[in-house]
Amino acid sequence: MDIGGHMLEFDFGTKIFFGEGSLEHLRSIKNKRVLIITDTFIFNSGIAKKVEEALPKCEISYFKEITAEPEISVICAGVNCLLNAKAEIIVAVGGGSALDAAKAIRYMAEKVYPNQVHIEECIAIPTTSGTGSEVTEFAVITDPEQKIKFPLREAGMRPTIAILEPTLVASVPSSVTADTGMDVLTHAIEAYVSLNANDFSDALAEKAVTLVMKFLPRAYLKGSDMLAREKMHNASCMAGLAFASAGLGLNHGIAHGLGAHLHLPHGRANAILLPHTIEYNANVKDCRNGVFSVAARKYRRLAKLIGLPANTELIGTDQLRRAIIKLNQTLRIPPDLKAANCELDRNSKEQIAESALKDVTTQTNPRVPSKQDVFDILDRCRG
Ligand SMILES: NC(=O)c1ccc[n+]([C@@H]2O[C@H](COP(=O)([O-])OP(=O)(O)OC[C@H]3O[C@@H](n4cnc5c(N)ncnc54)[C@H](O)[C@@H]3O)[C@@H](O)[C@H]2O)c1
Ligand SMILES: [Fe+2]
Repeated sequence: MDIGGHMLEFDFGTKIFFGEGSLEHLRSIKNKRVLIITDTFIFNSGIAKKVEEALPKCEISYFKEITAEPEISVICAGVNCLLNAKAEIIVAVGGGSALDAAKAIRYMAEKVYPNQVHIEECIAIPTTSGTGSEVTEFAVITDPEQKIKFPLREAGMRPTIAILEPTLVASVPSSVTADTGMDVLTHAIEAYVSLNANDFSDALAEKAVTLVMKFLPRAYLKGSDMLAREKMHNASCMAGLAFASAGLGLNHGIAHGLGAHLHLPHGRANAILLPHTIEYNANVKDCRNGVFSVAARKYRRLAKLIGLPANTELIGTDQLRRAIIKLNQTLRIPPDLKAANCELDRNSKEQIAESALKDVTTQTNPRVPSKQDVFDILDRCRG
């Protein structure tokens, strides 16, 4: 019997340990060759040492050459290091850049050297509350020659274990707390209005949005506020799970181009774009016979959820947009590209629009954008 509809799946995929003390999970790993993948800052900061101390019975090697917005050459160097270390377990420690690079290194090594590489676990330990990379099958890699950031998506890249240890985030400087926190909010909001949104991703996105609105200002203003740090760390992971299932949208599609051309931190690019993509997606002017777009209805629901006036789609969407602008102000995020010391020339604008339309994240945006739509959004961001 055909009962109609189509089957959906929600796969958590990654086992998650969270809360203070969760790093202790590593102690259960014994007699293994472990490659810790990280950047020099984390290596020198003492965070890598803490991780190593939780693995006393293992043989440890390091690949610490990860750079922000990792490039293809770094991935190749990491594959070599993994082969030399004969690693059985990968432990990725750092922000989204280190986690993404580690996932890509594992994937490449297994694909290219299937007879030599057998990774039993890929353990992701995020030290920023932002990308959710610890639970997704995405890795964003930069090609500096072509000036593009391309999101790879492979099921084999999803880490098997995530450890959300909030004490590792306490040292994140306030500007990085702000940028990465806005990345979390953008993931949750884009997943919520995505074409592939579902009941499971919606539940996670709603919780992530309420946690960010309450705890991001606290984590920003006082980095040692451990409750705020823990809640933001969980929110980041929940938003990651939401978009791992539902996908993202045009905001990320454009942010990837802005990152590649202007070297703007990923979260800051998202934060500057977000009020404008919300307005674009809601498309309240195009309301027919009192029926608004699905996106406008969902923005209204989010506004209501965080206690904003939301009697109509028009009010709800506008209130949500204003709340985000206000949050950006609280976090001292520049309101536009000019204020962020970024100049967008004609050529870059053209290339960013082209890559945004092709970007995999844009494919689940609730409204299909034209090149002119992207130009308009970029013009509004310019300042
Ligand atoms: N995989 C995904 O699904 C996904 C999603 C969104 C973004 N990304 C990508 O992730 C990258 C951005 O990641 P990010 O925002 O976490 O930034 P990041 O990893 O580049 O880190 C930012 C800076 O913070 C420092 N840092 C990290 N942890 C710290 C700590 N505990 N204390 C002090 N300093 C610390 C790092 O050394 C670095 O200098 C981008 O390349 C972006 O495109 C990936
Ligand atoms: Fe992101």
